Amino acid sequence: MTTKTAAITAVGGYVPEHVLTNADIEQMVDTSDEWIVSRTGIRERRILKPTSLGTSFMAIKAVQNLLDKKNLDPTQIDLIIVATATPDMPVSSTASYVATEIGATNAFAYDLQGACSGFLFGMSTAAAYISSGRYKKVLLIGADTMSSIIDYSDRATCVIFGDGAGAVLFEPNDEGLGLQDEVLRVDGKGRAYLKIEAGGSMLPPSKETVSKKQHFLHQEGRPVFKFAISNMSDAITQVITRNDLSKDDIDFVVAHQANKRILDAISNHLDLKSDQMLINIERYGNTTAATLPLLLWDYEHLLKKNQKLLFTAFGGGFTWGASYLTWAYNS
Ligand code: UT7
Repeated sequence: MTTKTAAITAVGGYVPEHVLTNADIEQMVDTSDEWIVSRTGIRERRILKPTSLGTSFMAIKAVQNLLDKKNLDPTQIDLIIVATATPDMPVSSTASYVATEIGATNAFAYDLQGACSGFLFGMSTAAAYISSGRYKKVLLIGADTMSSIIDYSDRATCVIFGDGAGAVLFEPNDEGLGLQDEVLRVDGKGRAYLKIEAGGSMLPPSKETVSKKQHFLHQEGRPVFKFAISNMSDAITQVITRNDLSKDDIDFVVAHQANKRILDAISNHLDLKSDQMLINIERYGNTTAATLPLLLWDYEHLLKKNQKLLFTAFGGGFTWGASYLTWAYNS
């Protein structure tokens, strides 16, 4: 086995057609477009209809977009990882279904649960398989149907989240391009602040859990907000420092889209120029594991070979981190 770097060589994405605007949400809960825009930066989000299509529907669409763009035969894919907090069903994996539906007959596949950091953690996993020489083509998908776990009478969460999916292909690179370094962390105490209480082994589904709305996502926004800023800033600073980078060396920061104010705080902390931070939260809201690949999908036209990208995410768990990746192709 040889040691090579693992580079992203293709990007695909998909967001559902149905748009849920702030004006729509004003009809559902006691909120306002002004509050949502000023406190989160979100103007609209996409919603999968019907929800029963499942996360695999969006993941498959994102992969098909990637396969078409790359003109890639799915039988060449070795491994498919689906980062998601909203799998089609608890058992079996969404990834297995996606693999079969796209015709990846030579692949194995599994789901990865890292909440909003799922794609970032998946980058580490995908790159490790490639740089070890074990596999040549690893497909990493971030996909979430957040509308399936949101209580649309809870204004603290329903304004934030949306549905979507993005996919990238990791392949070996001979020029040293691709994933260079990462700082990935968790703090299990954080699950008190961001969780779905019921439906797992600790609290299986029952009439009581349904009536108490314990199958919906619960978030204590303020502490999550603070931890998100401090932990993402800290992880980025560690990655920058140990790779002898200065802020001006960074072409783009690809950050989890949870709240525009969090992105602004990180920008201020790093003293970034406004065009260094990629942002699309105003159109999609927080799509959990899909935010990072959807940024790549939206901004792929700006990305050039050898550019330096910093990825960062923070989410339920708590989970967070930062990765440094050099871009491997001109689109
Ligand atoms: O992706 C995973 C990680 N998640 C995050 O990073 C999310 C982090 N948290 C946040 O983005 C923010 O905390 C939220 C957007 C969730 C909330 O914003 P906030 O500025 O932290 O609001 P808050 O929870 O501190 O609430 C401030 C006020 C409260 O009213 P009072 O008690 O001051 O009278 C809330 O009841 O805003 C009220 N409020 C709302 N008002 C209108 C909360 N949600 C809404 C709403 N519309 N949708």
